[in-house]
Amino acid sequence: MKKPLYFAILTLLFGAAAQAGEDFHAEKFHQASCTGCHDSSVYTRKKRRVDSLPRLESQVRMCDANLGKKLFDDDIHSLTNYLNDNFYHFGK
Ligand code: HEC
Repeated sequence: MKKPLYFAILTLLFGAAAQAGEDFHAEKFHQASCTGCHDSSVYTRKKRRVDSLPRLESQVRMCDANLGKKLFDDDIHSLTNYLNDNFYHFGK
């Protein structure tokens, strides 16, 4: 394999790994991407729909799908934990 191509592939691989991992900041992502359709008051309103941790996760997935961001599982989990820690407080 020619060297430049080899380095290009390595860069791509590490780039993708970084995106899925430490680079994700749930709070920042939420502020930047999740407050377009509703603000965080939907999480604390009286008649909120989410009533358990698994439902919270599936709601996050649904909203992510609406948004078209296609988050990795790891990022869905950090986002779910962020919402749970700050708003829902379900036992784990
Ligand atoms: C395309 C518009 C849209 C975007 C963007 C969006 N949501 Fe939503 N979200 C909705 C709608 C619509 C509801 C349902 C509101 C209702 O039932 O009144 C909802 C509800 C929710 C709920 C449930 C609230 C409850 O009742 O307990 C959660 C949690 C949630 N969204 C999380 C997110 C997260 C996390 C993101 C960012 C990834 C996000 N949303 C981005 C449209 C959106």
